Amino acid sequence: MLISGRGSNMLALANAGRRPGSAFHVCAVLSDRPDAAGLAAAAALGIPTAAIRPRDFPHRDAFDRALAAAVAAHHPSLVALAGFMRILSPEFLGVFPGRVLNIHPSLLPKYPGLDPHRRVLEAGDAEHGATVHFVTEALDGGPPVVQGRVPVLPGDDAAALAHRVHSVEHRIYPMAVGWHAAGRLECRNQGAYLDGSLLAAPRQVRLDADGG
Ligand code: GRF
Repeated sequence: MLISGRGSNMLALANAGRRPGSAFHVCAVLSDRPDAAGLAAAAALGIPTAAIRPRDFPHRDAFDRALAAAVAAHHPSLVALAGFMRILSPEFLGVFPGRVLNIHPSLLPKYPGLDPHRRVLEAGDAEHGATVHFVTEALDGGPPVVQGRVPVLPGDDAAALAHRVHSVEHRIYPMAVGWHAAGRLECRNQGAYLDGSLLAAPRQVRLDADGG
């Protein structure tokens, strides 16, 4: 997994992977930030971790190459990004073709990029959520797999909304990774296939206001 921050999605995946019968486990957690809280949390669970700092490389390509090599050394069947705050180069993606997933905190294609919670509140949307999608060169634009939807409630600020979205993220990311590990999910010709069928639209999971 690649993270830059807190790593709550990483923990959700790591914990799901430790349940008996899980089809996957988190084999390593890498970060571009040595101080990412999620790195320490992963290490505390006994998961191998590493930090690769962009500033130790002369340019972005060199960093991406080093990152790809460090990830490949763990022979992952899937690379899961969770709060990894860098755009991966085509060269990196080429090392793991169709095998990179990301989670973005909005109902894509709405609100790609930064600060989606604030933008949802400004737009007055009644609903918000998160999307697990395959990563392609298009920023937050790869084939979507599953979306978790939450209501926007009166009085919500960006922090309250982010908190609610995180709860649904922690449900849908292990779901998507589990599908991939079970051989049910794949990315082909820029499309997401679940159980052999092209997903015309991402699967939907709804979280009620009470978290149920
Ligand atoms: C999540 O909201 C995820 O959707 C986004 O970055 C955030 C990471 O949170 N890509 P965490 O580090 O997993 O807690």
